[in-house]
Amino acid sequence: MKKIRKAVIPVAGMGTRFLPASKAIPKEMLTIVDRPTIQYIVEEVVASGIEEVILITSEGKSAIENHFDYNYELDNVLMRQNKHQLREELARTSNLIEVVSVRQKKPLGLGHAIWMARHVIGDEPFLVLLGDDLVRSEKPCCRQMLDLYDQVGESIVAIQRVPMEQTSQYGIVEGEPTEFERTFKVSRMVEKPSLGMSYSDMAIIGRYLLMPEIFEILGNTTPGHGGEIQLTDALQALTNRRGMYAFEFTGKRYDAGDKLGYLKAIVDVALDHHALGEPFRQYLKAICSNDNCPL
Ligand code: UTP
Repeated sequence: MKKIRKAVIPVAGMGTRFLPASKAIPKEMLTIVDRPTIQYIVEEVVASGIEEVILITSEGKSAIENHFDYNYELDNVLMRQNKHQLREELARTSNLIEVVSVRQKKPLGLGHAIWMARHVIGDEPFLVLLGDDLVRSEKPCCRQMLDLYDQVGESIVAIQRVPMEQTSQYGIVEGEPTEFERTFKVSRMVEKPSLGMSYSDMAIIGRYLLMPEIFEILGNTTPGHGGEIQLTDALQALTNRRGMYAFEFTGKRYDAGDKLGYLKAIVDVALDHHALGEPFRQYLKAICSNDNCPL
């Protein structure tokens, strides 16, 4: 079984749900308490033992590449000002992991974005993390998937249960339980099924572990839902060809590319923050004890 060393993070989408904030700033660079969203995702990759990140970027997303790069001028200024702690923090970010970036010239869909990584990945299984999907868990979600891969040796999609009336907003998986905990053998996948067209509440979230055959399949996938090259269509072909597992990961997932999901992430991260958690909790309590409590 080949070791998994690389993770693809597509960030080339338009971010229309986050307009106007995302007009000039990539939504992945919006801050959750004290770090941009994308940093939490790269930190999950690092904590899972991965060696290299491949960012799929587009025009206007260079701030993401710069964030993980070394800034010589800034470092010099901080050194002259004796701001050593800040220098260390910035050095930690730029030394997190090896980052390679590949341009997706047109937003032709998530499937197309992943296909752009084919030359950098080669013939190895790899991880995919969506650049706006945050997962908070004791054991990193990607690590949970890598541990399952050691047992099943096949592609895996991470899933979460959603209310049936929300299934039309997700890629939905149908399948049977297996001997592995929280793990299902996938029989069918549907991208955003119309209401009443799915019998499953298992929704795909932004974490995938894929066999390299996916590239050949994506290369032959025609545009689907919304005129985009859909990853879900290619995943169904990979399921038919080799098999696929769905894994109900342990942890909490936030859609940080959506305004409400982003707000929820900020509140939960802030409450757990080593320095800000307590004063923030006191602030929320004070709001709630007020006669005009908004809750
Ligand atoms: P989304 O649909 O959630 O992101 O795509 P979006 O297109 O950026 O945002 P909205 O829907 O307009 O608000 C899921 C992931 O796939 C990437 C996005 O960057 C995001 O991480 N993506 C999507 C690409 O990299 N390229 C594409 O052509 C489409």
